[in-house]
Amino acid sequence: MIIFDDELAPNQQREIERAINNPNIKVLDRTALILDIFAQHAHTHEGALQVELAQCEYRLPRLTRAWTHLARQAGGASARGGAGGVGLRGPGETQLETDRREIGRRIAQLKEEIEEVRKHRAQYRRRRIEEAVPVVALVGYTNAGKSTLLNALSGSSVYAADQLFATLDPTTRRVKLPGGREVLFTDTVGFIQKLPTALVAAFRATLEEIAEADLIVHVVDITHPNVEEQVATVLQVLDELGAADRPIVTALNKIDRLPDPTQARAAAAEFAQAVAVSALTDEGLPDLFASIEQALDQELVQVAVRLPYRRGDLLGLMHQRGVVLAETHEEGGTHVVARIPPTIFPRFEPYLTSRT
Ligand code: GTP
Repeated sequence: MIIFDDELAPNQQREIERAINNPNIKVLDRTALILDIFAQHAHTHEGALQVELAQCEYRLPRLTRAWTHLARQAGGASARGGAGGVGLRGPGETQLETDRREIGRRIAQLKEEIEEVRKHRAQYRRRRIEEAVPVVALVGYTNAGKSTLLNALSGSSVYAADQLFATLDPTTRRVKLPGGREVLFTDTVGFIQKLPTALVAAFRATLEEIAEADLIVHVVDITHPNVEEQVATVLQVLDELGAADRPIVTALNKIDRLPDPTQARAAAAEFAQAVAVSALTDEGLPDLFASIEQALDQELVQVAVRLPYRRGDLLGLMHQRGVVLAETHEEGGTHVVARIPPTIFPRFEPYLTSRT
């Protein structure tokens, strides 16, 4: 197998294969390799659909008789997708034309399925916004430890299993922070240098949700030799997604692998808001929770309201979504001073006594 660390144009790939002239030697470019890896790692239904679409669109202009033959043997996602399956040949059609037609059909089918999933997702998103549960997006270079950290964060705190979000997207977890507020942690696709354009396009909708997150937790593998490039890549992708203005907490992960623990503290000093953690041993998680709560609190607005006793629902909402600073029971209702998310502020407007 020959692997190129760059994308090959379809005709370049053909010329190279012709020059090698050996069907047993497979030529892979950076994009095909990354797509293969993502196909193996896609753990959500939507993720799997998106990667398969990217693979089909990548494959379509590159179809040659020899290539499809190899792709069929390679199995994996291509076999599962059925794009390379054996179809009935129409009159006068070459095998190549049949393959093209089949891939074209599969692309249309995948797009429809993705559109369906997206509609559901939009519904849940609206619900989420109405509920005003803050969304914390975990981002990071691939293999930084996002999934492991998501498990650690949801496992070490009171985790309210939420079927609503869990069924659609198992990478979103509802977590109660130590201070009592609930947040949704979402795991995102791993970033990578020179992310293939086909993949960026496929994941665009998913990635764009990062720009809507209330807080971003940037997970960094502090033990990786290329840590600086990885951090720069992630920050650049965030910038491209229009998410650069979101508050960021940096989680310097895998500190259990550092031979000298003081290294973590030195590294943390280089970031504006960084916490050294180990998703594997849970070390530093309380500090990370504290940083997340603190960062979310900065987004809150302080209000003083007098809530009539019949509005127990609003009082409950304040406790669940905000930070209650003072609560006194008076004749006309409950007087509350609290810091609440701006999204639920309008509901309290009729009961305002002052806002600071
Ligand atoms: P992508 O899905 O590729 O973006 O990866 P990810 O960022 O979700 O990383 P994942 O959680 O899959 O972890 C990658 C590898 O790092 C796994 O082998 C983990 O076991 C390992 N890992 C994660 N966190 C830690 C940690 O704190 N310490 C150590 N020693 N290993 C860790």
